Amino acid sequence: MSLPSTVQLGNRSIAPLGVGTWAWGDKFFWTYGKEYGEEQVAEAFNTSLEAGITLFDTAEVYGLGESERIVGRLMKTPIAQARETIYIATKYMPVPWRFSAKQVTEAVSASLDRLGVTFIDLYQIHQPFSFLMSQPTLLKTLAEEVKAGRIGALGVSNYSASQLREAHGTLASLGIPLAVNQMQYSLLYRKIESNGVLDAARELGVTILAYSPLAQGLLTGKYQNSTEGAAATGARKMDARFKAENLEKIKPVVDLLTSIGQKHDRTPAQVALNWLIAQPGVIPIPGAKTAAQAAQNAGAIGWSLQDEEIEEIDRITRAWR
Ligand SMILES: NC(=O)c1ccc[n+]([C@@H]2O[C@H](COP(=O)([O-])OP(=O)(O)OC[C@H]3O[C@@H](n4cnc5c(N)ncnc54)[C@H](OP(=O)(O)O)[C@@H]3O)[C@@H](O)[C@H]2O)c1
Repeated sequence: MSLPSTVQLGNRSIAPLGVGTWAWGDKFFWTYGKEYGEEQVAEAFNTSLEAGITLFDTAEVYGLGESERIVGRLMKTPIAQARETIYIATKYMPVPWRFSAKQVTEAVSASLDRLGVTFIDLYQIHQPFSFLMSQPTLLKTLAEEVKAGRIGALGVSNYSASQLREAHGTLASLGIPLAVNQMQYSLLYRKIESNGVLDAARELGVTILAYSPLAQGLLTGKYQNSTEGAAATGARKMDARFKAENLEKIKPVVDLLTSIGQKHDRTPAQVALNWLIAQPGVIPIPGAKTAAQAAQNAGAIGWSLQDEEIEEIDRITRAWR
């Protein structure tokens, strides 16, 4: 199967891979400011652009706004200014103390300010929380922002199949398409294939932005060797998935990605991302903190796994569905 060089997102055509920027400025989960900083993420940004990757995913909560500020600063640099096609996706967090349409409008204004733009390509609702504001009220307010020209396309994130259908229906009644459901999706987390989300998204024409597509680094294989391999940093130190027992469990997966990768002169991470891109309607957004990670991840596009390889990877990761 030959992969497309571009895919449609909202009304724009982009490369079938993006970059997640949660780690840019975030000191709570990641270790921004200790092991890496703005210089390294700037290099990741520039390297991605040079490789033709134009989608950058941020959120108002990442680094308490710092991720959006960093993306905003990077977009002002000459290398970014020379490109007309940068596609910025950010997210709104429906926290309990936001209960009026005015607060939604203010949140959009604050993201625009931090990003230093007058228009956001894709604005997503980070979680399907309702609290004191109903989904129809929130979606209607965001639809107004699309009509007012401050937002290009609307998306949701972490919505179940039924929540996705409802949101799609509400927006359709307002004449606005639902572009995206951003979901956790990787070879080690394939739940959207079995819980109806992927089927619903395809039926409704909603793109899946696959978050944590490298299982937060596990699928790179770098954690496999406990003595010579990398050690998980930040909040992942506490995560059972990075402990020896799980590393042993995922070893056959990493080994298969490695051996298939060798045939294509690609890394396990590139194979894992290429497999996701081969799933119709899916765009992975791997996080990258450095130029080397960004370059490696960008090497997931421009080539294709063979059908038999896609099936083999499918078979060995069925337990994670
Ligand atoms: N909507 C949501 O609720 C939600 C939730 C989570 C994430 N997201 C989005 O999805 C994006 C990606 O998810 P994620 O950061 O959780 O997981 P991920 O993309 O699976 O993993 C990213 C981490 O893996 C390591 N890595 C990445 N590329 C690598 C490479 N080529 N070689 C070696 N290591 C590499 C880096 O960490 P180390 O170098 O420290 O190993 C990097 O921070 C986020 O930035 C965010 O935009 C959204």
